[in-house]
Amino acid sequence: CGIFGYVGMESAGPIVYRGLETLEYRGYDSAGIALREDGSDTLSVAKRAGEVSALSVPDESASTCAIGHTRWSTHGPPTDANAHPHTDCADSVAVVHNGIVENHEELAEELADHTFTSETDTEVIPHLLEAAFDENASEEPLDGSTSRTDGGSATDGVSSRVATELRRGVESVTDRLEGSYAVAAVHTGADCIVATRQESPLVVGHGEDASYLASDVPALVEHTREVTYLEDGDIAVLQAGEVSIYRDGERVEPTRSTIDWDADAAQKGGYEHYMRKEIHEQPTALRQTLGSRVDVNAGTASLDVDFPKGYLESLEEIQLLAMGTSYYAGQYAATLFESLAGVRATPVMASEYTYTGGRDPWRTLSVAVTQSGETADTLGALREAGAAGARTLGVTNTLGSSVTREADDALFIRAGPEIGVAATKTFASQVSTLALLAIAIGRERGELSAAEARSHLEDLTGLPGAIQQVLDEEARIRETAHEYADSDAFFFVGREYGHPVALEGALKLKEISYDHAEGFAAGELKHGPLALVTDQTPVLAVLTEGSRPQETLNNVAEVQARGAPTIGVTSDDVAASSLTETFDVPDAGIFEPLVANVYFQLFAYHVANAKGRSIDKPRNLAKSVTVE
Ligand code: G6P
Repeated sequence: CGIFGYVGMESAGPIVYRGLETLEYRGYDSAGIALREDGSDTLSVAKRAGEVSALSVPDESASTCAIGHTRWSTHGPPTDANAHPHTDCADSVAVVHNGIVENHEELAEELADHTFTSETDTEVIPHLLEAAFDENASEEPLDGSTSRTDGGSATDGVSSRVATELRRGVESVTDRLEGSYAVAAVHTGADCIVATRQESPLVVGHGEDASYLASDVPALVEHTREVTYLEDGDIAVLQAGEVSIYRDGERVEPTRSTIDWDADAAQKGGYEHYMRKEIHEQPTALRQTLGSRVDVNAGTASLDVDFPKGYLESLEEIQLLAMGTSYYAGQYAATLFESLAGVRATPVMASEYTYTGGRDPWRTLSVAVTQSGETADTLGALREAGAAGARTLGVTNTLGSSVTREADDALFIRAGPEIGVAATKTFASQVSTLALLAIAIGRERGELSAAEARSHLEDLTGLPGAIQQVLDEEARIRETAHEYADSDAFFFVGREYGHPVALEGALKLKEISYDHAEGFAAGELKHGPLALVTDQTPVLAVLTEGSRPQETLNNVAEVQARGAPTIGVTSDDVAASSLTETFDVPDAGIFEPLVANVYFQLFAYHVANAKGRSIDKPRNLAKSVTVE
């Protein structure tokens, strides 16, 4: 889900609406905005099921303070009533929320005299806030001696008093919530937004006469580059041009960071979809990833992580904890760690970690691979690994994200903002960053000679050029995608480094085209999946260096014998003339499967585009899933 808030001098409706549009990749099954009307005691709330575009832009110039939300449903289907913001019975407070209130049923029981209008877990929050205000009012009437002579607007005194009450209310109510959350609230009586977080991202933006709140940085860059990442438990009070942060009841100075992404990087820049733009950004992203970190002549990779002296030599195991595309990057990296660094390495689906991993953390490095740095499953596994005694490392694209704060060390993949829900350029940057780590560890442990390291580093630094050559072939892969778009199902196969790429290729296609697509280890085909193969099921194979092309070709022959069309991504020296279609990748050693992946990304994109799918926002998915 995405939260955006604005308080300043300008009309808040259009600014918040725009903020929600830029956050829509975080969830898009319903959206809503609550505006605090200046000079009157009302909140105006617009919300409905569907994408942000289904919402009519509330542009009341009378409001300079508003919060909005774009939702990825957890509790309750995406209906108008379940859309955020949620209000209390008196419509005096409005709340937006990301995460899950695990004890919402128990909390609702004590609110028996409140009327609930949605099926969400969130709705308990405004009602609890209302109860907190009522309790205070019975002790000391809020309006007290202050009379409203200015047409109903709160005087400064009352406004700041309500702001204080709202802050205290948010503090005491969120103290009682179990689960993860990012919450923002507005009240009719105060010209401010009060926000807090627990294991769910929230960033404050500092403007000259305005303050902003967002779930993620891309929504802020068009307004300001000065931000503060809230810490768990922080209570932020946003007023026009002023932000106060309270930690454990004490006011603390906001820690400011400056964002170096430019606003253009987070825009579509002439492409029809973010996904296609981001596929095409891979050469640039990889130059940023590798940039100053590689010294090819010396055969060294320097990363900005300082492990304790002797740690890498004594390391016995590396675990790669991740979900989705990041998991496949972790799988690619696990093989790199095994073969370049001589360390046992295992990819673990983070959501399964509790059941399978973390039993023997002795001399284990647990690496959370996560583009957003906020995936709840991945953070959960990381915490468990850390608690069991493993050293933890976060590999992420997102400065200031939860993983950077929770892991012992953080390593940035430097891919730049990725907005399309289907991850593309970050996969290439994740694998390349982890490859540098594997090379650095391999050198340190004496597993990799300088000459071997030099050769791998040459291949890595050649990736931007190699990928550019693939991108230049887009017209041909589009033609092939259109030819096979109506197939019954698609199978992707590969071995070794080609295996995670086959899995990632299938994931990409299913995510955005909604077609049945599956990836297999090529050797696995004959043990079951072959039963599904017909002349209506194209098989896409990775046949490059690093993917055991000769052995894989034997498996491809087995599907050819059953009539399946075969599309192979090959390197020069692979004799694959019997395939229905072949696409070449330039020489890139064991990173050739990573280059092959770009063909699969383009294939998925063009199949989905031919079908008119919602490519940047596929149904039921979200870019960053902050619930377990
Ligand atoms: C979601 C996204 C995927 C992504 C996964 C992990 O499921 O739809 O594209 O790969 O989360 O995200 P992360 O930010 O941890 O890499």
